[in-house]
Amino acid sequence: MRTPIIAGNWKMNNTIAATKALVTELIPLVKDAKAEVVICTPYTDLATAVELTKGTNIKVGAENVHWAEKGAFTGEISADMLVELGVTYVIIGHSERRQYFGETDQTVNARVKAALAKGLKPIICVGETLEEREGGKVAEVLVRQTTEAFKDVAEAELQNIVVAYEPVWAIGTGKTATAEVANDTIKIIRDTIAKLYSKKTAEEIVRIQYGGSMNPKNVKELMAMPEIDGGLIGGASLKAPDFSLVVNY
Ligand code: PGA
Repeated sequence: MRTPIIAGNWKMNNTIAATKALVTELIPLVKDAKAEVVICTPYTDLATAVELTKGTNIKVGAENVHWAEKGAFTGEISADMLVELGVTYVIIGHSERRQYFGETDQTVNARVKAALAKGLKPIICVGETLEEREGGKVAEVLVRQTTEAFKDVAEAELQNIVVAYEPVWAIGTGKTATAEVANDTIKIIRDTIAKLYSKKTAEEIVRIQYGGSMNPKNVKELMAMPEIDGGLIGGASLKAPDFSLVVNY
């Protein structure tokens, strides 16, 4: 029903030369994957990644997009620019953007709508901090982040959206949410989408990934959970053998 999707999030890693080496090594290792395979790269690597993956099963994503069509936004990149490059996906609202670059639920929503309007597929990141989890606020935070991200998004667009549940305390820390915790938390997100739209769309269409220290060792257990439709992979996406083990879980 929901095709699994494993996406690499390279963050601020890899020059063009490193991209050439990594993608060339990766292509044969993931060619038989059952999951949809995506690599999200820095803007400067996108053209190279798109060129190298032409005719393969790897799709390319960006790590952010601005909400305006064009204009006086020094340093920003528009959806049109990404589409022209041949980019398919775009990560929106990653916790590092929320934490370090002033991303809010409202700017996430604006980016999501701008991406969809141009045919880019958003990977919308949501997730609670350790403080919020310990304070019993997980459901409150996820319902708010999800509801705001989907504001004014039509139900027909949901097939083009992926959600990534990334508990902030599990990102880059080596601490993974247990498979049960990840599954139960993703259920909260899915139930929220069911309330906003319909149970049918939430259950049949919307893919929700887990992200946060997902790696070759824990991928099988996480992917065996009924609510988990894939992964957003940071550290383990930077080495072709590791990423391919995750992709071919
Ligand atoms: P990590 O990063 O796999 O290195 O924890 C995941 C992410 O931030 O998307």
